[in-house]
Amino acid sequence: MPSFDENIPATASPEVEFISLTHLNPSTELNPMPGRGIDLDYFRRYVRSLEEGGYDYTLLPYGASSADSFVTASAVGQLSEHVRPIVALRPNTTFPTVGAQKLATLDQLTEGRAVVHLISGGSDAEQARQGDYLPKAKRYARTSEYIDILRRSWTAPAAFSHHGEFYRFDDFGPGFAPHKSTIPISIGGQSDEAFAVGGAKADIFSFWGEPLDDLRGEIDRVHGIARAAGRTTLPRIWVTFRPIIARTDELAWEKAHDYVSRIAANFAKVRPPAAGTDPQNVGSQRALAFADRSELYDRALWTKTAAVTNAAGASTALVGSPETVAAAILDYVDQGASLVSIRGYDTLADAVDYGRHILPLVRQELAHRKATGRRSDFQAEHLGNYGAEYGEFATASRS
Ligand SMILES: Cc1cc2nc3c(=O)[nH]c(=O)nc-3n(C[C@H](O)[C@H](O)[C@H](O)COP(=O)(O)O)c2cc1C
Repeated sequence: MPSFDENIPATASPEVEFISLTHLNPSTELNPMPGRGIDLDYFRRYVRSLEEGGYDYTLLPYGASSADSFVTASAVGQLSEHVRPIVALRPNTTFPTVGAQKLATLDQLTEGRAVVHLISGGSDAEQARQGDYLPKAKRYARTSEYIDILRRSWTAPAAFSHHGEFYRFDDFGPGFAPHKSTIPISIGGQSDEAFAVGGAKADIFSFWGEPLDDLRGEIDRVHGIARAAGRTTLPRIWVTFRPIIARTDELAWEKAHDYVSRIAANFAKVRPPAAGTDPQNVGSQRALAFADRSELYDRALWTKTAAVTNAAGASTALVGSPETVAAAILDYVDQGASLVSIRGYDTLADAVDYGRHILPLVRQELAHRKATGRRSDFQAEHLGNYGAEYGEFATASRS
């Protein structure tokens, strides 16, 4: 068991901000409702729950069959006052000067709350659905050029031309400017190419939930690339989980075992095991490799939810009482994560529960550290899998 003494680890982030993912209707992996579009009442309630729960950001995901992330981000902006919409944007879908214009418009409409999450594309088949036939390495090279054009479009005081490998235009600008200065750019992806582009150019680099030691290595790697590129401001680290919480660890595990059998059954209907293909994106490959190695890691990280869904999207869970899960999140903050994305399998109810029971516990610990310069006993008191009974709950009642 690691020591949770009063010294704040040198790697720890002094701050943490919370991210959710906006759901447009009540369909979940637990209760799929095929064919559901936007349920406006649900969407409004979801955004309100984020605002009332004190979340800092919400991701508007993007896929070939999803709602458009710019339009939904704009709606989030108008339905909220504090939550910052993060637009997932695939460069192949939007010419960069147009992307810059849309993001600057969103930023002005939300008085400086816009963030963009650049998705280079993890699946050749999915990219081909919208006419993108570049191989992945080239897609990341295109993302790199895209970032340069976005930033220049937001700040250039006069018209400029660009003749690059992927984009060419003349006399663009000055473009429509963001609310104040610039807009944070995040990169999603775990391949070598993602690290190269993200380390050199991104404001934020994002991960799906990994075991602590593995994530520490990945943080060092992306920060090493950033330093080698001469950066003095390193990319912020975003890490994503799907917490399963209940009043006690034992109850949370009962819920987790029930959830995973339902999720597995639903997933098998959509994608029978025989049709299962190995994912092309490294993020999912890593998640599946962790699931192969062990079901349970560290204080509360559970990989079974990734195993039964072929790690399609963020899928690793944190299981336990709010205290255990908050302590587990603090373990990641201690490794340097300053952005923590949490969304559940029962989306709206979980968003409300996390806002009430998890965000305040994590923030309280950081406030304690700031005020005293020391760690409190919180992580030592809620041991999860570092303690005695938790492992039994994790294996008991397993289907
Ligand atoms: C936090 C996070 C959010 C993501 N959101 C999306 C998304 O909305 N749409 C999408 O197609 N891919 C999304 N991805 C997946 C990857 O960005 C994508 O598969 C990547 O461009 C290529 O994967 P690789 O570099 O890991 O091989 C997300 C990844 C992360 C880490």
